[in-house]
Amino acid sequence: MRVAVFSTKAYDREFLERANAGRHELRFLEPRLQVETASLAAGVAAVCVFVNDDLDANVIVTLAKSGTRLIALRCAGYNNVDLAAARAHDLAVTRVPAYSPYAVAEHTVGLILALDRKLHRAYNRVREGNFALDGLLGFDLHGRTVGLIGTGRIGTVVVEILTGFGCRLLAFDPVPNDKCRSLGVSYVSLDELLSRSDILTLHCPLTGENRHLIDAPALQRMKPGAMLINTSRGALIDTLAVIEALKSGRLGYLGLDVYEEEEQIFFEDRSNLIISDDIFTRLLTFPNVIITGHQAFFTRDALENIAATTIRNLSEFETAGTSENLVAVRSA
Ligand code: NAI
Repeated sequence: MRVAVFSTKAYDREFLERANAGRHELRFLEPRLQVETASLAAGVAAVCVFVNDDLDANVIVTLAKSGTRLIALRCAGYNNVDLAAARAHDLAVTRVPAYSPYAVAEHTVGLILALDRKLHRAYNRVREGNFALDGLLGFDLHGRTVGLIGTGRIGTVVVEILTGFGCRLLAFDPVPNDKCRSLGVSYVSLDELLSRSDILTLHCPLTGENRHLIDAPALQRMKPGAMLINTSRGALIDTLAVIEALKSGRLGYLGLDVYEEEEQIFFEDRSNLIISDDIFTRLLTFPNVIITGHQAFFTRDALENIAATTIRNLSEFETAGTSENLVAVRSA
């Protein structure tokens, strides 16, 4: 099958080529898929896309007109695809539902530890010969209450890890899971979760209903000085409200691997450029904020699994017209 692979980085090419072993004709393209670049997919049966490619209705119409039949996501989330438009234009959508919950969960815990023990500041101090401890005071994770929003694959691994730290665990999820319950998680309402958690961490998908789930009222209900971690999707958080909460000291720590306008910023070297997003740059000024550029998934193990599943999805679709990793699409 001829496949246009958008948003290609050297590491995507390396892992996909190895998994593909010549089966499909992969055309690697550096640009993001968006209206302006959709014509690059002319004549291919499938496009292979990542988190910040934009599969809105216009792009989907262009793809359908030029013969594309499959959108193969090489990620788990599919909030960047207009599923109703895909269905209306008879485009199938596949994804990689699970490639390494460990990668994202471990990065989440890394952010928690780094913020708590101020490792980002300690690293710089020691390199400059400053061994003073003032300002680096942390807290024990043992005995602290961690609240999870979403206890699916990634949330469950976070629970497993934090159990080892001796944390108390609360969760909010419309579909509670028994494994988390057996590990000692108490499922509570969102309100209770917000008001009781020392650390709040987000592990749910972004949907039409939960945009800005963490907004100004939610931040107001959180414990003063609490830590907020988001390794899920940027728009789960109202960034402006979070900045106000950081300025007032209401929010004590913020760890982000995702940002609501990240498609304009992440995945490129911009160290010689001016970042024009004033909201993002404001976030960078806080000493109690750590931002990573959507790298939680980025382990060798995860990239191998992503590539293998993506190639399998393409092969299944080519031979059977479907795939076990088909995303259920709503009616238009
Ligand atoms: P999953 O589908 O296994 O679990 C999601 C859980 O969230 C489910 O238990 C579901 O019931 C729950 N949920 C849905 N809506 C909710 C809501 N409004 N409030 C509370 N819970 C809700 O997904 P998985 O694999 O655990 O991934 C979670 C999210 O992590 C993905 O949707 C994606 O956005 C993000 N992600 C981020 C990555 C990164 O590199 N930063 C990489 C992979 C995923």
